[in-house]
Amino acid sequence: MIQKIDALLAEIEQLKANSSEDLDALRIKYLSKKGEISSLMNDFREVAAEQKREIGQKLNILKTQAQEKINTLKELLENRNTPDEAMDLTRTSYPYHLGTRHPLSIVRKEICDIFARLGFSIAEGPEIEDDWHVFSSLNFAPDHPARDMQDTFFVMHGADILLRTHTSSVQTRVMEKTQPPIRIICPGRVYRNEAISYRAHCFFHQVEALYINQNVSFADLKQVLLFFAKEMFGPETNIRLRPSFFPFTEPSAEMDISCNLCGGKGCPFCKHTGWVEILGCGMVDPNVLENCGIDSNVYSGYALGMGIERITNLKYQVKDLRLFSENDVRFLRQFEYAT
Ligand code: DAH
Repeated sequence: MIQKIDALLAEIEQLKANSSEDLDALRIKYLSKKGEISSLMNDFREVAAEQKREIGQKLNILKTQAQEKINTLKELLENRNTPDEAMDLTRTSYPYHLGTRHPLSIVRKEICDIFARLGFSIAEGPEIEDDWHVFSSLNFAPDHPARDMQDTFFVMHGADILLRTHTSSVQTRVMEKTQPPIRIICPGRVYRNEAISYRAHCFFHQVEALYINQNVSFADLKQVLLFFAKEMFGPETNIRLRPSFFPFTEPSAEMDISCNLCGGKGCPFCKHTGWVEILGCGMVDPNVLENCGIDSNVYSGYALGMGIERITNLKYQVKDLRLFSENDVRFLRQFEYAT
């Protein structure tokens, strides 16, 4: 009997369980009423009296060791199973949103990409400017109303420091430093002293384009405008130019495109005219070239400028300009899949 107990002790020492079913089987095999240890207990009754003490002790040890071994195996299994069982690998993942590009950034990039394909490179200038770059160099008369405090934000009262009201100031900055040929596109933020409403804001964004070289003509400008309109709004888009006035261009024009909502048939968006205005343009005034140290007898050029908000509204029909600067994620998320 002692041998049997020793054999069982050695066996129990080696026990392993890979699942709770294994563990149950072991518990039944060793510790249940019909298990190995119980049957030894039954045999114990027949043990001769002088051996009872020794064998009794051994049996008790066997019983506690078996119990302890089963307990340890149980703990091991529990520790191993907790993370596995808590983790449901078939569950779908939490939905998470990628950040979205701002609609104005999407459209700015699209405009810049179109001009980049024509060989224009990006130029930038400061948002805090002086009178010379925003107005005087661009041929604005000293009493021009744009200089008025009602229209322009002055950074220091009475001082010649102001927030640029258009990106045309970058034209001057580049022409002052560079001799032609110049072929630049200037995206940026501009500021005007406007009451904020659904259709006006005190800051907005523009893109300016400037081409200066020998023999640049109005025909070159028209060709670029037509190319831009078709690339931006689709190949069926038509353009028309209306005479206009800007101090820095002569002659000047405003460009309309055929309304991209009704295809030119007339709708509330285009006020039933079939056309919507999208930009200002013209041949750079010789005075501006001279102001920047470029010989107007040798060089000529064209310039154009457009509001990014306006183009974005045309593309995405955003009805309220304020949405662009409120950072409401419900608005921004709508552009998640726009490119
Ligand atoms: N600077 C003008 C504005 O803010 C837009 C503009 C018109 C830019 C004609 C130009 C241009 O370069 O030629 O309204």
